Amino acid sequence: MSPVPAKLLKNPRAKHDFKGRTCSIAAVGSYVPEKIVTNADLEKIVETTDDWITSRTGIRERRTAAADEFTSDLGTKAALKAMERAGVKPEQIDLIIVATITPDYPFPSTAALVQQKIGAYRAAAFDIEAACSGFIYALEIGQQFIMSRTYDTVLVIGAEKLSAIVDWTDRNTCVLFGDGAGAAILQNRPGAHGLLTACMGADGNKADLLLMPGGGSRNPATHDSVNARLHYLRMDGKETFKNAVNAMLAAATEALRRCELDISRIKVVIPHQANLRIIDAVGQRLGVKPDQVFVNLHKYGNTSAASVAIALDEVVQTGRVQRGDLILLVVFGAGLTWGAAVIEW
Ligand code: UT7
Repeated sequence: MSPVPAKLLKNPRAKHDFKGRTCSIAAVGSYVPEKIVTNADLEKIVETTDDWITSRTGIRERRTAAADEFTSDLGTKAALKAMERAGVKPEQIDLIIVATITPDYPFPSTAALVQQKIGAYRAAAFDIEAACSGFIYALEIGQQFIMSRTYDTVLVIGAEKLSAIVDWTDRNTCVLFGDGAGAAILQNRPGAHGLLTACMGADGNKADLLLMPGGGSRNPATHDSVNARLHYLRMDGKETFKNAVNAMLAAATEALRRCELDISRIKVVIPHQANLRIIDAVGQRLGVKPDQVFVNLHKYGNTSAASVAIALDEVVQTGRVQRGDLILLVVFGAGLTWGAAVIEW
């Protein structure tokens, strides 16, 4: 590894070691359902082709959960792996945060259901909704609880069963999404490596670009709302695309600036896995080398809040990063929302 110019890396951790507190990522875990839906499978249900999907998005297949497998189940499986790797027992967990747009129910929270499934009865539990940016929002919230001395162990989960809200007759959207979950255990481990910074942003002026119009207080479920297919995800793909590139670039730049880091110091960039063309455009503008960027969307499609969480687990489990390496996560989603985080693994 090349020596680090002092002005680019003045021990970025120091700023986040606050009076002996450090937000460390003790371990990560992920889970994807067994069922694989290939582009060829989709050719049979909507007017599309493997060639269109692959060339316009980079996606080759995605996973879909079983009829009796829900977001809380996916999140639980990811969480149990992370807990085992971290050596954390259910009773040690102080807080569970689940980021999702596909909760089991509108209420209670999916986090409460996960709490029951893993037996973490001491833990407080709530969901956050920041769409595809949810995992970074949840990491940042978890970090605040740890640095403020409120909690010592926080379980953060990004989990989605998007197959439940995808309109399987709409070729514009149904080819894009998949189901899955990723989890991280955040702990106060003074002196250990950890989350160096996370930045978040939002622009509600563009809420209409990507939304599910039905099922909330504006369009509660009625026969009419269901007939109008309001309970499915809708997206203006082109506009979302443009906004994604700009926002991800801005978020990544801000996260690096806060840590006084040059992009060349980052071992692996993990972008939200929505579209390979978005990833390439962001990577080019950031000046990353192709081998710095991690991509797994050909296998899973866009899994929204689970996307970078699953990718982070894959990066760690395949040995692509070693303890001490720097990772940049960068996300974008409905809201609009965006964010980026730098992790010293
Ligand atoms: O996770 C949150 C963030 N999400 C994103 O960032 C997604 C952002 N958007 C995208 O990734 C891309 O805009 C899409 C992949 C959704 C669409 O790609 P595009 O290059 O922007 O295509 P388009 O929407 O402009 O559509 C081009 C053509 C249209 O046909 P006409 O109107 O030109 O005749 C579409 O009807 O491609 C057609 N098309 C399809 N054709 C075959 C759209 N979907 C399909 C399909 N198969 N599945």
